[in-house]
Amino acid sequence: MRISVIGCGYLGAVHAACMAELGHDVVGIDVDAAKVADLAAGRSPFFEPGLDDLLGSRHGRLRFTTDIAAAADARVHFIAVGTPQQAGSDAADLRYVDAAVHSLLPHIGPGHLVVGKSTVPVGTAARLAAIVEQTGAELAWNPEFLREGFAVSDTLTPDRFVYGVRPGDSIATELLDEVYATPLASGIPRIVTDFATAELVKVSANAFLATKISFINAIAEIAEVTGADVTTLADAIGHDTRIGRRFLNAGVGFGGGCLPKDIRAFRARARELGLESLTFLEEVDQINLRRRQRVVDLVDANLGGLTDRRVAVLGLAFKPESDDVRDSPALDVAGRLVAAGALVRATDPEAIETARRVHPELDYRPELDDAIAEADALVVVTEWRQYRELDPVTIAQRTPARLIVDGRNCLDPQRWRDAGFTYVGLGRP
Ligand code: UDX
Repeated sequence: MRISVIGCGYLGAVHAACMAELGHDVVGIDVDAAKVADLAAGRSPFFEPGLDDLLGSRHGRLRFTTDIAAAADARVHFIAVGTPQQAGSDAADLRYVDAAVHSLLPHIGPGHLVVGKSTVPVGTAARLAAIVEQTGAELAWNPEFLREGFAVSDTLTPDRFVYGVRPGDSIATELLDEVYATPLASGIPRIVTDFATAELVKVSANAFLATKISFINAIAEIAEVTGADVTTLADAIGHDTRIGRRFLNAGVGFGGGCLPKDIRAFRARARELGLESLTFLEEVDQINLRRRQRVVDLVDANLGGLTDRRVAVLGLAFKPESDDVRDSPALDVAGRLVAAGALVRATDPEAIETARRVHPELDYRPELDDAIAEADALVVVTEWRQYRELDPVTIAQRTPARLIVDGRNCLDPQRWRDAGFTYVGLGRP
C-alpha cells in the first residue's frame, strides 16, 4: 500500500516509520525542513526508544519530504498534525488539521482515503469529510492511543483499532484493514463505528486516565492529613479487577502533550455543546495542578524555608523514557522552587536540552553527582529507572542533603531512612 503521512511530529514520525515496518511504501510530509532532514537521515528529532532503529532499517520504503505533492502517489493519507491548546482558551487549535486537509485537496481524488489520526473535538471529522468528499475521495477517523516511550510497540500492536467511517462507506474500512493487515491478523480487536464515536473514544480514554490519576491524588490529599498510605491503598483497591492497579500511582501528577490539553479541550467542547456533563474535568485538572505545589510546600516545610536553600531536582521530562517537557510537572516544580527563592540544580537523563529551550534560565547539570553535590534537599519528580535504582548509601556519600522528597513515590522509604535521610513521599506517612 502506498501511504502518505502528513505531519511528522511525535505521532506522524512514529506512524510513518511503523507503516514502513509493516511493509508499506511510505512518504512522510512536514513543513519543517529541519525535521524532515533529520528523519530523512534516519535520525529521530526526539527521544523515543526503538524509533532510530526503525528509521535506519526502512529498506527503501520510507522517505520524508516537505513537498505535499509527493502525496499524490499515495492512496491512503494519514493526518497526524498537532492539535495544541489555543492560546488564551481551553479549546483545541485546529488550524494545523485544517491546513493539512486543504493542502491535500489538489492531490487526491476518487479511490483515495484521508485518515485523521489527530485528537480533535467531536464534530471535526464530519466537517472535514464534507470538504474531502468534494474531490471524490473519502475520509475516516482512526484515533491513535500511543504512549510516549512505548510509541513503536503501541503503534505496531495497539490494544485496539478504532475506525470512524461514514455509514455504508465503500472503501474506508477495506483500505484500513489492508493497512493494518499484519497486526489485525494477530487478533487485535477492531471497532468500526461512526465519526463522532471514534472522535469521542479517544478523548474519553484520555479523560478517564486523567480522572483515574486525579482520583488517587485526591485520596493522597486525604491520606496526608489522616496518616494513611496512598500507595498501600492503591495496591489494595487495585486488586479489584474492576478498578485495576494501573494509573493509580499517586504523585506529582500527569503532564505531557496529551492528557492536560485533551481534558481541557474536551470540557470546552462540551460547554460549546451546551452541556455541563464534563465540569468535573475542571476539578481533575485542579487536583492535578495542586500536587505540584504540594511538592514545593513539602520541601519548604522540611527545610524550614526555601530562600537560598539548595535543591537538586531529579527529573525534567513529564515521564520516564521521554525527553518531552510539554506541561511537565517536573519542570513546573523546578520553576516553582526557583520562584520561591531556592537555588535549584536540575538534572535529567534525556530532557535537559528540551527543557533548556523553554526555560533557559534554569541551572541544568547533566551529571547527577554535580546536581546533588552541594544540595540541602533532593527532589525526585520523574521516576527514571536511574533514580528508582539509586543506592541511598552511596548517595549519602555524594551529597550533604539529608532530605529526599519523592514526588513519584518511586523509592523505598525504609532504605532511604536507613541511610540517614528524611524521606517524604506524597500521600504517605
Ligand atoms: C497518554 C495516553 O496514555 C495515550 O493513550 C494517549 O494516546 C496519549 O496520552 P502519554 O502522554 O504518552 O500517553 O503518557 P502516559 O503514560 O499516559 O502518562 C501521562 C502522565 O500521567 C505522565 O505525566 C505520568 O507520569 C502520569 N501518570 C501516569 C501518573 O501520574 N500516575 C499514573 O499512575 C500514571
